Amino acid sequence: MINLKNLQYQLWGLLIIALYACEPHSDEKDIVGASLVSLNYDQEISVKIDSILSIMTLEEKLGQLSQLNNAGDKHIDSTTVNAVRKGEVGSLLINRRSFYSIEERNFYQKLAVEESRLGIPIIFGHDVIHGFRTIFPTSLAQSSTWSPDLVEKGAEIAAREASAQGVDWAFAPMVDVARDPRWGRIAEGYGEDPYLNAVFGAAVVRGFQGKDVSAPDRVAACMKHYVGYGAAVGGRGKQFTDISKRTLHEVYLPPFKAGIEQGALTVMTAFNDINGTPATAYTYGIREVLKKDYGFQGFVVSDWDAVKHLLWHGIAADTTDAAQLALNAGVDMEMKTIFYKKLKEALAEGTVAIETIDDAVKRILYVKYKLGLFKRPYIEKDNTRELFLSDTHRKEARKMAAASMVLLQNNNDVLPVPSGTQSIAVVGAFAQERDVMGWWKSTGKFKDVITAFDGIKSNAAEGMEVTDKVTANTAYIIACVGEPSRFFGESRNRADITVPAEQVDFLKSLQKYKKPIVLVVFNGRPLDLSNVTDLTQAILLAWHPGTETGNALADVLFGQHNPYAKLTASFPRSVAQVPVYYSRRNSGNPNGNKYIDLSGEPLFPFGFGLSYTTFEYSSLKIEQAKMPVNGELKLSVIITNTGSKEGYEVAQLYVRDLVGSTTRPIKELKGFQKVLLAPGESKKVNFVLPTRELAVFNADFEPVIEPGKFYVWVAPNVTGGLKGEFEIAGNFNAQ
Ligand code: NOJ
Repeated sequence: MINLKNLQYQLWGLLIIALYACEPHSDEKDIVGASLVSLNYDQEISVKIDSILSIMTLEEKLGQLSQLNNAGDKHIDSTTVNAVRKGEVGSLLINRRSFYSIEERNFYQKLAVEESRLGIPIIFGHDVIHGFRTIFPTSLAQSSTWSPDLVEKGAEIAAREASAQGVDWAFAPMVDVARDPRWGRIAEGYGEDPYLNAVFGAAVVRGFQGKDVSAPDRVAACMKHYVGYGAAVGGRGKQFTDISKRTLHEVYLPPFKAGIEQGALTVMTAFNDINGTPATAYTYGIREVLKKDYGFQGFVVSDWDAVKHLLWHGIAADTTDAAQLALNAGVDMEMKTIFYKKLKEALAEGTVAIETIDDAVKRILYVKYKLGLFKRPYIEKDNTRELFLSDTHRKEARKMAAASMVLLQNNNDVLPVPSGTQSIAVVGAFAQERDVMGWWKSTGKFKDVITAFDGIKSNAAEGMEVTDKVTANTAYIIACVGEPSRFFGESRNRADITVPAEQVDFLKSLQKYKKPIVLVVFNGRPLDLSNVTDLTQAILLAWHPGTETGNALADVLFGQHNPYAKLTASFPRSVAQVPVYYSRRNSGNPNGNKYIDLSGEPLFPFGFGLSYTTFEYSSLKIEQAKMPVNGELKLSVIITNTGSKEGYEVAQLYVRDLVGSTTRPIKELKGFQKVLLAPGESKKVNFVLPTRELAVFNADFEPVIEPGKFYVWVAPNVTGGLKGEFEIAGNFNAQ
């Protein structure tokens, strides 16, 4: 039966090639309600897609645009079974409340492939955000490693575990630049900076999709949430966002562009309203920028119920209207479909064109081909036992968790805990807490988490006592405080971003022991730590580190891992400062960046983090003080380890464009390097910055390189470093 179908496709394919060859085609086509761009699929895929499309009924086409969510207690339910059998389901969403067994997944796939008329496989999607069974630190924590290689590896492991269980498509990376720590979803992205979101988003795409996304251990990535979700007013998600075109292009779009350039196969729209247009009806963003300017060839999926939200936003009169608005704007698949079934009516009413539906179907089929689903629709062998929580996966999770912990304070070098210490007490609300896997823990299980206490105890030096209470022998107190996962994530916004009051009281109660206190904070978001800095000698941000929490924490506390993590979002000194981020504009009065009763500067700045050793920067050398517009800025510094321990330093490259046609931020991150130095060792660290990275958007939003002077810094964090100057001469369009 399958062979017959293949033959049928091939014959249609030949006919279509012949027709295609005779027909003139343009790059852009305006049809009812939408402007479509040509798809550049290679010929083999294109032929296959067109051959299927040509024999699809409208119901089957709309089926491809539909994603059903039937997870819950009843994995196999008759409505889904019937719909799949009829070829009316393009995708199934596996949600985190439960999980399909491999048999259940294959059962649905078999219905689609062997019992539906056209045999088009289903694509199974799931939120694989920072791990699948082996849980890695949250994304914000991961970005603190400033190590795209580690992040890529983490995504690769997540893809391996998820695909073994039948997931084809991961709803990540989330690259929403976020500057308001009240917003619960700040934990899911890579911080406040567009460049870093681009770097880490791209790393995740590589980790998920690899070089060949059709390999059995890979999954399709989904860049989300398109676009500007992080700009929600007041940090209250799903709200109105007021984003100028300049901010859209400078801040919110670059991470998506970077992911598309790495070949990300899908994009998810956001929940926010952008300047009066909900993201799921945002034609400019989806059709103009993503599909036309960035040449995105994959498909766009709405977020959960986001098509329905168009009614609540007040831009759709009824369900059919909502469906046509979303499809015409470029949303190819509706997550958890209800409204897209109404496209049949929209077509009859003439508000959508069949070409628009066809374009969406093609994009979805393309992704299925790229994933190899037509060739390998089933999970043939159950490898989960060997893969899940394997030693290698746990080892990588431990490495990443340790690498993401940021040392914010270390008075009198109280850390690392000296190996001769007789007795340490590990106390506080998070000492034995297993809820340290973040908000998206996928199939991660609490029972698999190594708690702070257990990890410290099992990794303590021989003879070192580890207690769960402060005793007469206690020499060191490790106080574990923080936010439970229900304090951050989707719809978990906080107005008060301090350490919870009862935990601060607990910390105060420890003062009476007059022992060194090390505060370990398990946080999802940047917190206001101003009320705890004086109550402790050291502050170590652990974030939500995942399955290997305790082991990774022990590695850092005992000095097996010398911390090098640095903040990727500013930590405010009060929620009243929010938003506070480093790359603000200078304004006409730079002194205006403060309050009469509070500084304008954060408590811990972007890029900040301590080590158990110290570093000195010297000899900034800029190779050419004057450069042509299409040149490369080459510069170097010497970094010396002036302390007594080996350690990594993350050196950051910032620039400021001094005079231009538009105002520029006072600093913009343009690069970074991680360098390992032995005590006393000096290394020359080189940076190369192509001038196109210095392009700005002109009044027409075209990237141009403007001549003039720039400041440049190589720095340990955004506030310090060595400063130089260079100049670009001439004019050049960066496109
Ligand atoms: C809603 C969230 O906004 C999105 O990030 C997630 O991928 C979907 N639900 C699916 O769970």
